[in-house]
Amino acid sequence: MSELAYVNGTFCDPADATVSINDRGFQYADSVYEVIVAIGSEPFRMTEHLERMRRGLEAIGLDLEPHGIDLERIIREGIERAGFDRTMVYLQVTRGVQPRAHVYQDGLVPTIVATFRPKPVVDAGVRARGVSIMTIDDTRRTECKIKATSLLPNVLAVSQARRDGYHDAVFVSPSGEVREASSSNVFAVRGGGLVTPVRDASILHGITRQYILECAERMDLPLIEGTLTVPDLESADEVFLSSSVIDILAVTKVNDKTIGTGKPGPLTARLYKTFLKGLPGSA
Ligand code: PDD
Repeated sequence: MSELAYVNGTFCDPADATVSINDRGFQYADSVYEVIVAIGSEPFRMTEHLERMRRGLEAIGLDLEPHGIDLERIIREGIERAGFDRTMVYLQVTRGVQPRAHVYQDGLVPTIVATFRPKPVVDAGVRARGVSIMTIDDTRRTECKIKATSLLPNVLAVSQARRDGYHDAVFVSPSGEVREASSSNVFAVRGGGLVTPVRDASILHGITRQYILECAERMDLPLIEGTLTVPDLESADEVFLSSSVIDILAVTKVNDKTIGTGKPGPLTARLYKTFLKGLPGSA
């Protein structure tokens, strides 16, 4: 078991994995990515992740078809070779290598990069206590539903949150609507039901978000995909974040407002139980 990388057809040690300085991924973030978690040898919701990547590739006009690249095979082989119990697969497809010019040439060979690392474990104390978030103006690009690698605003937002004593930051539109956190989606619990921002272009359509909505439906919880303002979030009974890496993570503070009792709430806990039960390999 050791961390593993993949670059254009070759599996190798991550320390030996390199791409060209002329790669458009490096120079322009002209690329898309996915983060997929595998439980044992089974990637969770891989079809959905690859479908989202396919939509992103289509949106940026990058066609893998002529290159005969089998992303599923790369993912499965990497997981097997790495041999972790829980693997975090990072997969990035860039438009390829070309001397720097904003306009891309036709016929470039896409660069395929992947890493296979253990899924980070959220510290048990952090999970039990919950985390704090601050709201921040959304200065990101408009097409956030594309899982593009141009993540500078996200990097700056979470770094500022950490400096200001919060765990994460949640982007808010100019009209005051909550969108998503730096690398996760946001849910509020209000009146016994779930409220989460609508699935439009301003958020990433999280695979975990969708899975949580399915879990909530099974539990007969009222669901609203709609507007969530900052005051709605600050006055919610419970708040949580979701992603492939953190699953469901309770939020106990939004800006200077304590959420509920200041501890992860009961509905979040029930939902997380249903969430875990639905994962491959759980009885
Ligand atoms: N990010 N919103 C943003 C901006 C994200 O970057 C992510 C995931 C999500 C949740 O998506 P999913 O449920 O499909 O993981 C929402 C990954 C984990 C990352 O960049 O590391």
